[in-house]
Amino acid sequence: MTTAPPAFPQPRVCPHLPPPAYAELRQGPALRRVTTHAGQLAWLVTRYDQARTLLKDPRLSSDRRRPGFPVISVQVRLLTERKRQALIGMDPPEHDVQRRMFLPDFTVKKVGERRADIERIVHEALDDMTEHGPPADLYRDFALPVPFRVICRLLGAPWEDRDFFQDAIRRLVRTFDTAEGRQAGAELLAYFEYLVTECKTRPDAAGLIGRLAGTGRISDDDLALAAMSLLIAGHETTAAMISLGAVTLMENPEQLAAIRADPEAIKPAVEELLRFQSIADSANLRVATADIELDGVVIRAGEGVLVPGSLANRDAEIFEDPDTFDVRRDAGGHIAFGYGRHQCLGQNLARLELQIALTALWQRIPTLRMTVSAQELTARPPGAIQGIDALPVTW
Ligand code: HEM
Repeated sequence: MTTAPPAFPQPRVCPHLPPPAYAELRQGPALRRVTTHAGQLAWLVTRYDQARTLLKDPRLSSDRRRPGFPVISVQVRLLTERKRQALIGMDPPEHDVQRRMFLPDFTVKKVGERRADIERIVHEALDDMTEHGPPADLYRDFALPVPFRVICRLLGAPWEDRDFFQDAIRRLVRTFDTAEGRQAGAELLAYFEYLVTECKTRPDAAGLIGRLAGTGRISDDDLALAAMSLLIAGHETTAAMISLGAVTLMENPEQLAAIRADPEAIKPAVEELLRFQSIADSANLRVATADIELDGVVIRAGEGVLVPGSLANRDAEIFEDPDTFDVRRDAGGHIAFGYGRHQCLGQNLARLELQIALTALWQRIPTLRMTVSAQELTARPPGAIQGIDALPVTW
């Protein structure tokens, strides 16, 4: 009797560690069959070199509408239904044209110009949190509002409307119900369509939306969809990394002490946190557009391919003793931001936000500690960006 291939992604037991069964998957072949949320058979890539090879392969498509695209969650199901795709779901040449349009806002230089603004946002969030606490919820009071405010300013999305965005995004990204998710997505898109139209009438409209609206370089519909996707991608992941990063550092006090003693140490520490957490199991999804042979395996045209960082970033041939968190290692080659054509557009911004937020947190609150153990924190379901929705702390 043959057994069905294992489900992928699987649930985390402790939110800041990959599911225990992934250690076993890493011992097996570089490409193996798994079963998706929708019950499809797809290929899982378990090794770093093969992951990078495939993420560079033009025969793999990111277009969610193609038959066979791996549906790993309700949220991916909703994207397969969409007539238009955002950048992450586009193939060339459309992808490259749109990426070039957004890139000027995300270069190291341009992001660096935001440093003072990000520092102000971080310190204001800490002012609020310390005024009202202890105790506090580090996710609600710090990890979430910081990247949310940063991406709203970058886009030119009014901060006054944050309650609406946050509620609609939560209903979209946390739901298990297709109808609820569809409704929330439609509300968000309608809001951004309105905002784009409104920006066209205001020559002083700020941010990425203001820069591109009405220029004729991109249609209003595509700009609205892009802005909505950037709002979600721009805070959901970074908020998860700030909160899980804080958990991992509190779990490793001697490494936290080393970072606090040396201001330069935060940069490699953030890379190691990105590698160690690899929160984006739900990213790096592809479908083959032609047969591809790799390591004696043939991926047939129309088959789905999953390339999760949570496996590649713990490949023992690349990262020695990969299950050990070590801020002194050179983790810079990780693929937590993906690899190849779709490598994260916002990575420079995310890095800077993480460096500033995780430095300021202990400068301002040196005695910060969790009021529950890391094992008691509730992990998100598989298929979501991994993270936590509450982090009780005191000081
Ligand atoms: C793409 C992870 C922060 C916007 C990606 C991909 C990954 C990723 C793995 C590749 C997806 C693929 O190849 O299919 C992360 C992580 C972040 C983060 C771990 C935070 C720690 C951000 C931020 C923004 C952003 C702050 C925007 C402000 C995007 C966009 C893409 C992308 C637009 C698609 C790029 C393309 O298709 O060309 N991200 N991301 N991300 N990310 Fe991020």
